Amino acid sequence: MAHQWRGIIAEYADRLPAHVQEKIVSLGEGGTPLVEAPVLSELTGAQVFLKVEGMNPTGSFKDRGMTTAISAAAGRGAQAVVCASTGNTSASAAAYATRAGMLCAVLVPDGKIAMGKLSQAIAHGARLLQVDGNFDDCLIAARKLAETHPVELVNSVNPDRIEGQKTGAFEIVDALGDAPDIHALPVGNAGNITAYRKGFVEYATATADLPAVASRTPAMWGFQAAGSAPIVAGHPITEPETIATAIRIGNPASWQQAEAARDESGGVIESVTDEQILAAHRILSSQAGVFVEPASAAGVAGIISRAERGLVPAGARIVVTVTGHGLKDPQWALRAADGSEVVPTRVGADVVSIADALGLG
Ligand code: F0G
Repeated sequence: MAHQWRGIIAEYADRLPAHVQEKIVSLGEGGTPLVEAPVLSELTGAQVFLKVEGMNPTGSFKDRGMTTAISAAAGRGAQAVVCASTGNTSASAAAYATRAGMLCAVLVPDGKIAMGKLSQAIAHGARLLQVDGNFDDCLIAARKLAETHPVELVNSVNPDRIEGQKTGAFEIVDALGDAPDIHALPVGNAGNITAYRKGFVEYATATADLPAVASRTPAMWGFQAAGSAPIVAGHPITEPETIATAIRIGNPASWQQAEAARDESGGVIESVTDEQILAAHRILSSQAGVFVEPASAAGVAGIISRAERGLVPAGARIVVTVTGHGLKDPQWALRAADGSEVVPTRVGADVVSIADALGLG
């Protein structure tokens, strides 16, 4: 127990606001692995690491922001919280709320959230409502509900969420000894790119109380799915589409902050197609040994795409945050590259048949 990771609020207490620390609600989030990915280094000519956020308690990066948001709500004596979600936020909110003894209402787009995430929200006792609309409609409704009723909004427009999620940047710098050259990640509602930028800037800035930990900040490379790429298009997308349902968002709440993160860091926000996302998903699972959900592969698809265009500096140190676990949305693993269904080979329970099927003769 002496060496147990204590969750991000305890670990980064000196860099988080006091009001999230009065009544801490934690499931031990953060402290996720930074895994080198030689296959991606080879493909891009850079040195690539993966920040594996699927290793958080509910299987996504959302837990970093949910521990702070729910702790702050608990400190204020809140009884109920609400969120709109493409799935992961609802899974995380449901877990932390039930831990805090609060009611949790979640609004999700009808039929467009992955089964793993749906089951998590239900298992943790959330009041789950499938809304006839997309994520953007859900968020408008959730905001209005929180304005007019005694429930707190725990989407990433809540600044306590950003405070928690910035700790992902701290952990990357702590692991590498300095900031990487480039940080790549998927962009949906744009809270995470905002949070990471804040974390990298804070770690590179000395204050009266705290020293600078990093000598620089990384270029932020954000990637949207091609059918849901409002920031790339320069206008909201009214009917966003992508197989990466987690980032199926047409009007990101933190749009301006994402553009600021891009511009102030000398970064880019680009789009990747569903085909590129699935190809990256396959490389991650079959070669890097890291199973992620499709949205999480967007950052990897992005650096591969930029490398193909000669836009990855040779030898650059790149961290790609892979945001959610593959078990959230496992159906994509059961398809071959040509789209056909993968059916396991059936054999008898004898060594001869098994060796035969394995080609061991
Ligand atoms: N990756 C995953 C797995 C996500 O679930 C999300 C967002 C993102 C990336 C994008 O992060 O919104 O901060 O730009 N999921 C939200 C949800 C919208 O409701 O779970 P973002």
